[in-house]
Amino acid sequence: MSEIIIETRALTKRFGGLNAVKDVDARIERGKITAIIGPNGAGKTTFFNLVSGTFPLTSGELRFEGEKVDGKRPDEMARLGIARTFQTTSLFDGATVMDNLIVGHRLRTRSGLFDAIFQTARLREDERICRDKAEEALDFVGLRHIANRLAADVTQEERKRIAFALALATDPKVLLLDEPAGGVNPEETAGLADLIRKMAASGLTICLIEHKMDMVMGLADHIIVLDHGVKIADGSPGEIRSNPLVIEAYLGAGHDAAA
Ligand SMILES: Nc1ncnc2c1ncn2[C@@H]1O[C@H](COP(=O)(O)OP(=O)(O)OP(=O)(O)O)[C@@H](O)[C@H]1O
Ligand SMILES: [Mg+2]
Repeated sequence: MSEIIIETRALTKRFGGLNAVKDVDARIERGKITAIIGPNGAGKTTFFNLVSGTFPLTSGELRFEGEKVDGKRPDEMARLGIARTFQTTSLFDGATVMDNLIVGHRLRTRSGLFDAIFQTARLREDERICRDKAEEALDFVGLRHIANRLAADVTQEERKRIAFALALATDPKVLLLDEPAGGVNPEETAGLADLIRKMAASGLTICLIEHKMDMVMGLADHIIVLDHGVKIADGSPGEIRSNPLVIEAYLGAGHDAAA
């Protein structure tokens, strides 16, 4: 039986006069892979910023596991089980991959930088837990062998895997991936798609934003299409591929969405 883990109703975010996200009703099913697609500026990242608590909603409703969660901070959302990656992965280049994961874990699960870095009372116990989580996450994404490498020396594809590990280390239920295969070659994209499938197979709910249509069509159980902040379609890859509204908005009239 299907179960909805995240539900939005009339979700809206305005920046000045611009509706970045407008009246979006979305349902994300537990254990499935949902893709959010749409042209540049469609509101995809803003949708993630709302669902992860990064931005407050202008109006509408956001529910996680049936509970209203509007107004919660990112660290509160992370503790509830929503983790995200960013379009660009910021790492401390002078630190090792492992140290990035340890600090990243604190930054994601504490309310402020001060708390994250200077909380000393429980530091040693915390450090051990973070290290265990980080090792487990690095294993999962296949990067255990580069734990001690400087972040400055990792490839773009490894950076993407580190972003997954940063999110996984918080023990999420839902993973929001913002362009997980941006800037990597086709072979590496296939490897990242396999890793996303493995995350879903382990029971995680995945929601991903991606411009690479082959990847989206091959991975997603369900696709939501945004254009100018508005949801213009919602359905299976087959339904989306043949939807004329999508073809027109996303790829320009006359193109096949699978191309
Ligand atoms: N913090 C902000 N302040 C003002 N405007 C913003 C802000 N964030 C996003 N916008 C605007 O909201 C709209 C949607 O942006 P968003 O980043 O969500 O698009 P996107 O679908 O993720 O695009 P892309 O595919 O290029 O990443 C754009 O017009 C953008 O300029
Ligand atoms: Mg974006």
